Amino acid sequence: MKIAIVTGGGDCPGLNAVIRAVAKTAAKRGWETLGIIGGYDGLLEPQHFRVLDYQALDGLLVRGGTILGTANRGQFSAKTGHGETRQLPAELLEATKAGMEKLGVSAIVSVGGDGSLTIAQQLHEHGIPIVGVPKTIDNDLAATTTTFGFDSAVACATDALDRLHTTAESHNRVMVLEVMGRYAGWIAIYAGVAGGADVILIPEIPFHYESICRAITDREKHGKHFTLIIAAEGAHPAGCDFVTAGGQQANREARLGGIGQVVATEIEKRTGKETRTMVLGHLQRGGSPTYTDRVLCTLFGAKAVELITEGRFGRMVAHNGKFVDSVPLAEATGRLRTVPLDEGFVHATRGLGISLGD
Ligand code: F6P
Repeated sequence: MKIAIVTGGGDCPGLNAVIRAVAKTAAKRGWETLGIIGGYDGLLEPQHFRVLDYQALDGLLVRGGTILGTANRGQFSAKTGHGETRQLPAELLEATKAGMEKLGVSAIVSVGGDGSLTIAQQLHEHGIPIVGVPKTIDNDLAATTTTFGFDSAVACATDALDRLHTTAESHNRVMVLEVMGRYAGWIAIYAGVAGGADVILIPEIPFHYESICRAITDREKHGKHFTLIIAAEGAHPAGCDFVTAGGQQANREARLGGIGQVVATEIEKRTGKETRTMVLGHLQRGGSPTYTDRVLCTLFGAKAVELITEGRFGRMVAHNGKFVDSVPLAEATGRLRTVPLDEGFVHATRGLGISLGD
């Protein structure tokens, strides 16, 4: 038996660890694994793939990025604008099926976020045996309590906050750190709590400048002449839209970015405090996965092969908070898991006196 693995969407730490786990578990069953190069496009003519034998897996557990390459644009884009879903043309789905048959592949493991798994669901509806593995630093996939890559991104953002803390304190400045996360504030709120931010701005809670400035002046009254703010790229003032970077391209999801500078400029204007911005950007997506992500990736990869063995296609590997399980792909796509406002994390954050800008 031969299976194939595809990595799609933005890269993130742990993709290679999943590739390794899938290929190793498959090899134990006597199966061959093909790695499709450059996302789903590699299944189309001229096909682009490599055999993932034991030699090909050397060092993959700790290696960042994906040895298979990935794409979050092009003909296989299922998300456009602000997360709207696009149905792939039937000819493209058919060509993918034909490509798979030509390679003699019986099943596909699709490793991706909302966009890639939406494509996986469409391929499944088209009769392709496929299972999904939830990847994204944003941690915004419904039906799994966690995605791999998130822990590594939070570790990176926390380290950045720790570093900004000492320089902010030395200069009596306000520092605004902008982090990724798309329409969910998971990275911002986790790193904000872990890194001792004074203000955390997330898309789920539209903010007011008066509230942020009040937090800064309150700190001044207590002799704290610096303030650390972490802003998710999707954070926005009440009544205003998301801030985007660059123009909107056809068949592409909007690129968020720039809210950190907008917030910094307004704070400086209103409080007179010297304010600096730092955009963490793709540093959050690069480098080695944390040990938590390495374990998660390994369990996720093994589970994906188990699903194939059992013929349970159209499903996504998922963590249910206790153990690794699976859910129908349809449950995992089409709706985002944002930070719930009525649960412990947000309450605890407020309880600590951290401002959420509202
Ligand atoms: O979905 C992952 C993510 O890193 C988002 O947090 C971010 O908005 C986006 O991808 C950035 O995409 P690109 O690499 O195309 O700039």
